[in-house]
Amino acid sequence: MSRQYYIAGNWKMHMTRAESASLAKAMVEQLKDGKHKYLVAPSFTGIETVGAIVKGTNIRLGAQNCASEEQGAHTGEVSVLQLKDLGVQTIILGHSERRHVYKEDDALINKKVKLALKHGFEVILCIGELLEEREAGKVEAVCETQTVKGLEGVTAAELANVVIAYEPVWAIGTGKTATPEDADAAQAFTRKVIAKLYGQDAAEKIIIQYGGSVKPDNAAQLMAKENIDGALVGGASLKPESFIPIAKFA
Ligand code: PGA
Repeated sequence: MSRQYYIAGNWKMHMTRAESASLAKAMVEQLKDGKHKYLVAPSFTGIETVGAIVKGTNIRLGAQNCASEEQGAHTGEVSVLQLKDLGVQTIILGHSERRHVYKEDDALINKKVKLALKHGFEVILCIGELLEEREAGKVEAVCETQTVKGLEGVTAAELANVVIAYEPVWAIGTGKTATPEDADAAQAFTRKVIAKLYGQDAAEKIIIQYGGSVKPDNAAQLMAKENIDGALVGGASLKPESFIPIAKFA
């Protein structure tokens, strides 16, 4: 496979600045000989601290969300301009917690995707089905809708800065991982959707991560699958003991 593996840590709403700094330092130290592409996405409040630590290393700096508008009267939101000012390179958008807890819909997520790409960020667009959707046989329909609508208006050139993270909602933070076969099937299908939209070459190139209870003991089996090009890691990214073995899976 010519695609580079991409392992990302999503710290969600965890950690003070001091805790963030200590984890980021451990990551820098222990991943300096890492062979893959890496990202850390702290809470907004930790971005500046972590950014100073990962600057110039092989770990990219990420944010977990951004506002759909560039700036203005949007109390409680954080803009792409502010993230750029902090040195953020990548923005995670459409995470299931944003979709299902904070009710972000495909149209809003698409607006954010386009804005982030316009400002030169790499975007990790998260997609994935609820348990009832899986049980109703709707995995492909959900992946297709969220991919097509999430990328509406995104040009072929911009797609080079897009990563997709397939994260079945029932697997996130539950300890229930999708089987490598189920994850690979959903991701192979999603790659076909990209091929339909942007052509075969773009589909071969796009990185599709898996997310949902990735742990040191299941990372290698997942990553061995043809269509799984990395991981978006939540819980296990909060400690070096669990994140480093995932990031250095063999
Ligand atoms: P988890 O979270 O690894 O804790 O399941 C993954 C994610 O939400 O990106």
